[in-house]
Amino acid sequence: MTDQNVKTNKDQSYEDGLRQLPFDAIEAYKTIRMNIVFMLSQSKKKSFVVSSFDQGDGKSTCAINIAAAFSQLGNKVLLIDGDLRKPTVHKKLRLSNTKGLSSVLVGFCTAADAIIQVGRRLDVITAGPTPPNPSELLCSGAMDVLLAGLEEKYDYIVFDTPPFGIVSDALVIAPKTAGAVVVTRANVTTVEQVKKTMTLIDAAGIKLIGTVFNGARPERHGYYKRYYKKKYKSHYSYRNFVNGTNFSDETDAPVIK
Ligand SMILES: Nc1ncnc2c1ncn2[C@@H]1O[C@H](COP(=O)(O)OP(=O)(O)O)[C@@H](O)[C@H]1O
Ligand SMILES: [Mg+2]
Repeated sequence: MTDQNVKTNKDQSYEDGLRQLPFDAIEAYKTIRMNIVFMLSQSKKKSFVVSSFDQGDGKSTCAINIAAAFSQLGNKVLLIDGDLRKPTVHKKLRLSNTKGLSSVLVGFCTAADAIIQVGRRLDVITAGPTPPNPSELLCSGAMDVLLAGLEEKYDYIVFDTPPFGIVSDALVIAPKTAGAVVVTRANVTTVEQVKKTMTLIDAAGIKLIGTVFNGARPERHGYYKRYYKKKYKSHYSYRNFVNGTNFSDETDAPVIK
């Protein structure tokens, strides 16, 4: 065994929960990745947010898996937990959250101090301790400076964010990035919620990069398919058949609890 193959304890914790997603889920993430790459090629920005109308739609799951999918393409990727109120990335990836985005934004530590390497090409900045003023921190000048610096170092930066329908934080971060990937959850997200999300996005001048239809079964959900096709013809709409919890086929794959 070469040194490279020796796992540290931290690496081992990822290996422990490593499970393969179904083939169609992996393919769905590859499709999502390909379409995001295409959309981002038209933008100078390298960052984008993953959000949805409500809690529990699968934002964090998708953000992590999308970041992993990008890193597996050979890109240097940073996943940032922008949900400063109810962060879950550190829990899903079993990382420490003592330092994170909030710590960097208030000047308690540098970005370099907060970055955790979880794969060969995949880094994470967790949310950090919950601040009293998340929206203010996210729209601060410190956030602009941080993002500009990080965009020089990474090929892609993926933000997990809180729901559009509950707090304005995603609407604050997204305009600083190339746009938003909107997650909807099969049998949960209502058409009304989708409409409200799109109204909020349009009003904030955020570019819709694409939509992920999370938890869909390919043979079902004809209504959603017809709705998206009609309503957002010009945008990509992805189906995500994820029903396990991690995107994994190579060493960079993180594990989601
Ligand atoms: N496609 C899916 N199939 C099954 N469970 C899922 C799927 N997507 C997400 N989940 C689970 O649903 C819960 C909420 O997902 P999460 O990504 O934390 O949502 P959000 O970030 O939008 O609040 C988590 O327990 C997650 O593992
Ligand atoms: Mg979340």
